Amino acid sequence: MITGAAPVSPVILTFLRAALGCQFYEGYGQTECTAGCSMSMPGDWSAGHVGPPLPCNIVKLVDVAEMNYLSANGEGEVCVKGPNVFKGYLKDPEKTAEAIDQDGWLHTGDIGKWLPNGTLKIIDRKKHIFKLAQGEYIAPEKIETVYNRCDPVAQIFVHGDSLQACLVGIVVPDPDYLPLWVKKKGIEGSYSELCSNKEVKKAILEDILRLGKEAGLKSFEQVRDITLHPELFSVQNGLLTPTLKAKRAELRSHFRDQIDAMYASIKM
Ligand SMILES: *[C@@H]1O[C@H](CO)[C@@H](O)[C@H](O)[C@H]1NC(C)=O
Repeated sequence: MITGAAPVSPVILTFLRAALGCQFYEGYGQTECTAGCSMSMPGDWSAGHVGPPLPCNIVKLVDVAEMNYLSANGEGEVCVKGPNVFKGYLKDPEKTAEAIDQDGWLHTGDIGKWLPNGTLKIIDRKKHIFKLAQGEYIAPEKIETVYNRCDPVAQIFVHGDSLQACLVGIVVPDPDYLPLWVKKKGIEGSYSELCSNKEVKKAILEDILRLGKEAGLKSFEQVRDITLHPELFSVQNGLLTPTLKAKRAELRSHFRDQIDAMYASIKM
């Protein structure tokens, strides 16, 4: 059996192999290269290793300097070339030129890493777009922009990944505005007390979900839970770039424990 479209967690793959007693492969590719450009190898039960390129095409990795993935280190954007690569988008030369370069390489937007045994592992996305476990695309920055309209929210980081079915968020409340906002709801306390107050969290979550709904976010684009954090993301603490953009990989690892705790408590 073959699975594709989004990664499957190692636990589920192992379960399916054991329960169904058959080979179970993960395919990797995209519509623009006629679905598959690589797949896991027989007997390789590790997750996310898609094996060497299929015979129909060749694969190379190119530098993504802004994310510090360099082909000299065996890391970079996965590019595919071969007869299975499409000719272009119908009547859209502009989008086509973004997808296929002059030399005919399809730029997938996925970040890959060559492992010592010649297999490829998909480790990241070039754009900040990912799929949830059901296969829906999520652009977290779009969601963060909507949630930022919530008055007591100073900063927000929306997280999700392809092994999870929903999104969660880290919210830094506005230190000046939060006390005024919650006072109207009859809640008082110091900033740090408010940040660990369940009622405050509930009120902010309700408000951002309301804003999300008004802005037309789909239900899978809404966070299922948030954690309030009392320290702003900054250049100094390494969570923002010098141009004040969120460093998503750093935010993810910085808030790993909070993220894991939220997923552990969400009942789907
Ligand atoms: C290749 O190496 C990786 C990392 O050590 C390992 O997990 C994987 O099983 C290997 N795949 C094959 C086909 O040998």
